[in-house]
Amino acid sequence: MSIYIHIPFCDNICSYCDFCKVFYNSNLVDKYLRALSCEIDKYYNGEVINTIYVGGGTPSSLSLEQLDFLFNIINKFKLSDNYEFTFECNIESINYDKLKFLYDNGVNRLSIGVQTFNLKFLKFLNRNHTCEEVVNKISLAKQIGFNNINIDLIYAIPGESLDDLNHDIDMFLSLDINHISTYSLILEEHTKLYVDGVSNISEDMDRNMYELICDRLSSNGFNHYEISNFSKDGYESRHNLVYWNNLNYYGFGCGASGYIHNIRYDNTRSLNKYISGDYRLSEDVLDRNVIIENEFILGLRKVNGINICDFNKKYGNIFNSVVNKLIKEGKLINDGVNIYINPSYMYVSNSILVDFIGEKYE
Ligand SMILES: C[S@@+](CC[C@H](N)C(=O)[O-])C[C@H]1O[C@@H](n2cnc3c(N)ncnc32)[C@H](O)[C@@H]1O
Ligand code: SF4
Repeated sequence: MSIYIHIPFCDNICSYCDFCKVFYNSNLVDKYLRALSCEIDKYYNGEVINTIYVGGGTPSSLSLEQLDFLFNIINKFKLSDNYEFTFECNIESINYDKLKFLYDNGVNRLSIGVQTFNLKFLKFLNRNHTCEEVVNKISLAKQIGFNNINIDLIYAIPGESLDDLNHDIDMFLSLDINHISTYSLILEEHTKLYVDGVSNISEDMDRNMYELICDRLSSNGFNHYEISNFSKDGYESRHNLVYWNNLNYYGFGCGASGYIHNIRYDNTRSLNKYISGDYRLSEDVLDRNVIIENEFILGLRKVNGINICDFNKKYGNIFNSVVNKLIKEGKLINDGVNIYINPSYMYVSNSILVDFIGEKYE
């Protein structure tokens, strides 16, 4: 079993972000943490936890006292001996005391939102840190003992060139950390960029940027293990692999989702409702068809795809007409052990994955 905990508070709202979040407010955080504690008491059944991910929002925006309260809640979980515990941080809200607190309380992986090292684009994204701060805070985290660190990078920012991207990759490589998640900028409705009428960069440029990222990271010893994720050997995100392997996890907190015993649920995105104890927005019992559909859509996000033997053990031999059609078209490859997306189609993987929606499996 795995756990995701959502902390929906941010010191600053980024111009592109449509995640469940509000401005940090100390009173609200206190009420929120009490509600979170009650939600966990209500639903957590005492299972042993292999991976835990505290994400946001900006979990690192909490004060030390609030972090202490949060970790008293987290201490209720039974963690396995070799658990992975990721905590999401923003550069400007981490300092020695908070990082040391996290390290001393069992966090063993940091995921840090850097987005870009270019000051002009940081401003455009409404992020408030500098490159110097990134270098200093990551070095601080390493000194404290963190050896498993991810950064999030956004590319395809309007006006960004391949040279700009190369510079961001150079900066990432110079940090000497072992994981990076890369995201092409999406102009989401309800965000400042969308309201301002900002346009996407061209499709060709977006593709060139994706290929540049893949080439440069691969040639620098990173495994491309999921569409947007790259790691050094042994540092894949075990928690995210739980999602892509279609395994069970609790989602706690406002706006969180979970998947347990074939039930997929979403919590409310309304902070007021959440704080008043009205946690769940919806619950769907998934039928076999939808479970298999998810297995394909999530599993094929991994570069190694789906292990045929494991799949057949779970569902019987039902690699169906969609799979066969996609193999014939050269979009999927069956190497006898795994079925995976042909690397030259990775960029358009979404257009392949939609083929699985609504399929019937006997
Ligand atoms: C859960 S979010 C926020 C994490 C953390 N609060 C932060 O901002 O660093 C995780 C990541 O999704 C990415 N992201 C969020 N909105 C995006 C968008 N509209 N387009 C592309 N990437 C986005 C960002 O890289 C962000 O760091
Ligand atoms: S990207 Fe992160 S810091 Fe920015 S508003 Fe979204 S959740 Fe908050």
